[in-house]
Amino acid sequence: MKINLITIQVQEYERIEDLTNEDKELAIGAIEAAKKAYAPYSEFQVGAAVKLCSGKVIMGNNQENAAYPSGLCAERVAVFYANAQYPDEAVETVAIAAYANNSLIEEPVAPCGSCRQVLLETEKRYKQPIRFILIGAKKILIVEDTARLLPLSFSKENLLSEK
Ligand code: THU
Repeated sequence: MKINLITIQVQEYERIEDLTNEDKELAIGAIEAAKKAYAPYSEFQVGAAVKLCSGKVIMGNNQENAAYPSGLCAERVAVFYANAQYPDEAVETVAIAAYANNSLIEEPVAPCGSCRQVLLETEKRYKQPIRFILIGAKKILIVEDTARLLPLSFSKENLLSEK
């Protein structure tokens, strides 16, 4: 038996003001989107701003439902909408922010496992890495691709290898 370490590289910034103008704009978009979330059950409002290769920015936020599993995360709302409207435009960057108790949460919010799976397929579909800007009041993290967020992933290559 051997132990293999999987490490991922993450850039850390102290404040939104430290980001490039382009990233700052997207981060502010995610914060604004979070404020419009429909999250009456969890009271945890998440916003995602998706930048496409054309420069278009698509916003999404979590949409909850009294039948809890019928709701959807901010990231998938934004990415599915982007892919539905602009199927030929690669997703370049996704900024994510969350609000709870009327303030930006302290720790950066990272996509849940199901969203990572969808984002991985989006990355593979457009053959281009998706950058993530994970926003927290205390710090901001930048991750250069979905593969880093989801090591040891499952994808269509696994299905094809069994044919
Ligand atoms: N949520 C998101 O929208 N994105 C995430 O990355 C994590 C969780 C939502 C789902 C649910 O509406 C609420 O946050 C609490 O889990």
